[in-house]
Amino acid sequence: MCGIVGYVGSQSALEVVMSGLKRLEYRGYDSAGVAVLADGGLATAKRAGKLVNLEKTLGRRPLPTGNTAIGHTRWATHGGPTDANAHPHLDNAGRVAVVHNGIIENFAALRAELADRGHHLASETDTEVVAHLLAEEFSSCADLAEAMRLVCRRLEGAFTLVAVHADEPDLVVGARRSSPLVVGVGEGESFLASDVAAFIAHTRAAIELGQDQVVELRRDGVTVTGFDGMPAEVRTYHVDWDASAAEKGGYDYFMLKEIAEQPKAVADTLLGRIDATGSLSLDEVRITDSELSEVDKVVIVACGTAFHAGMIAKYAIEHWTRIPCEVELASEFRYRDPILGERSLVIAISQSGETMDTLMAVRHARGQGSKVLAICNTNGSTIPRESDGVLYTHAGPEVAVASTKAFLTQLVACYLVALYLGQVRGTKRADEVQEVIRDLSRMPHEVDRVLETMEPVRELARSLAYQDTVLFLGRHVGYPVALEGALKLKELAYMHAEGFAAGELKHGPIALIEDGLPVVVIVPSPRSPLHDKVVSNIQEIRARGACTIVIAEEGDEAVVPYADRLVRVPATPTLLQPLVATVPLQVFACELATARGNEVDQPRNLAKSVTVE
Ligand code: AGP
Repeated sequence: MCGIVGYVGSQSALEVVMSGLKRLEYRGYDSAGVAVLADGGLATAKRAGKLVNLEKTLGRRPLPTGNTAIGHTRWATHGGPTDANAHPHLDNAGRVAVVHNGIIENFAALRAELADRGHHLASETDTEVVAHLLAEEFSSCADLAEAMRLVCRRLEGAFTLVAVHADEPDLVVGARRSSPLVVGVGEGESFLASDVAAFIAHTRAAIELGQDQVVELRRDGVTVTGFDGMPAEVRTYHVDWDASAAEKGGYDYFMLKEIAEQPKAVADTLLGRIDATGSLSLDEVRITDSELSEVDKVVIVACGTAFHAGMIAKYAIEHWTRIPCEVELASEFRYRDPILGERSLVIAISQSGETMDTLMAVRHARGQGSKVLAICNTNGSTIPRESDGVLYTHAGPEVAVASTKAFLTQLVACYLVALYLGQVRGTKRADEVQEVIRDLSRMPHEVDRVLETMEPVRELARSLAYQDTVLFLGRHVGYPVALEGALKLKELAYMHAEGFAAGELKHGPIALIEDGLPVVVIVPSPRSPLHDKVVSNIQEIRARGACTIVIAEEGDEAVVPYADRLVRVPATPTLLQPLVATVPLQVFACELATARGNEVDQPRNLAKSVTVE
């Protein structure tokens, strides 16, 4: 998820774009850059790191202010956070500049074609191919909007593109496919941005671009067409958010926005990793297939929510690869003198990539000669840099301390690694891998469906706002989900909450059950051999007075008589159920914390990244 701004009008384009980027910096802060049209040419500046680095560069070497400019704050997906990989990207003649949000899945093939035609590409990004393709098309049609339409028709994946050409000084052209782009319509000026936060200081008249559309931005207004060049109808709407709300997409908290972003985060994490035959291609992992074939043990190290993702990954890895898999709290791992060797694969899961406990576990594992694969959401952070390979989740920046979309994308990445290990080792046939991939490809829609039915969960949370304790029960992959639900409630509502393996209840914890005690139970699919056991567990606690809050699959009627409150989730394959069952628990914790008046995005005593041991 990156921040994009475009402007054409009578103000200083550089100032408008830089202030807009500041509003969008939460969308990505790996690098930033601007391109300004002035004096018949194109002036650019771009720097790795936060926007302040670019501001310092501009302070030392000012650009012309101009009346047409584009800018970008980057959340790196392809290519690390370096000056060279920062946007805007230019063609070799320096006449075209383009910024991009999303993933161009077929960039490798396009890159090879361009190199064959003599283009020199200076970065590792997927974006740069667009600048060279636009230059080629523009040299034929001398129309940047038409060039954009022609190029977009060749691109695969999800993308928002915004470009300028030195030969058309009063024009900004944008294109949108499955990634946000909104237009701001001012008096004698026009704006383009990833979200309205970038321009509502100037205008509240906005146009939301539709799928596969190209927009031409000029001082006197905008023209919108499809990728096919046919005129598109545009609908202007009034933005009534304030600037702060706009950064959160209109939500009260980043956490709510990030919960809502989960379908897209899951979809983006799958993008570019499934080839045309439906098989997995994880080239970026950088650990060779022969090395993966030799692995005789997997050890997952992580903390907190990432640890819960690792617990779920264990079930998938062992089931799909038949390799023994241990899951270790990173803070405990190296102190237990673990048995590791060259055929051990250590998987380090971390959203921030800076968690010191996990980093120290990585260093210990490498010191023992093991291969380390990082699953991380922050491109270029320390843990992936110190690992042998990395599989990035594409959740985009996760601002709220309580991890939500990062967790779901960690699960997706873990499933992909487990499948890939199975594919490489032959324990999963190609058709079996493709079947799981088809199931995974359905998950963004299923998560969306869960999000649409959360109002009863919010009402329930408000009704329980002043409870002292909530317990969570689950079995198999539902057990780590129970732990995650309890963690969310602890860290957000500051409430005592505990997760248990449902089968463990009778060995002690059932003594905790008393009249009216809320107990959330994640029930496996009726197709699971554990389903009836969990239904029995529900009966046991209800008989002792518990208030049973049951999360069960649509159509599971066996639970109805024992559920004081019933939350339905879509039917999924057993191993994928955490992707849908976790969402109600996130919403429940967030709503309950809100009802208690807690600060949701920055809960007390916590930090987004724990960089101390
Ligand atoms: C989860 O909601 C917390 N924010 C915390 O447990 C977090 O998952 C843990 O600190 C690990 O962080 P990481 O994924 O950045 O390594």
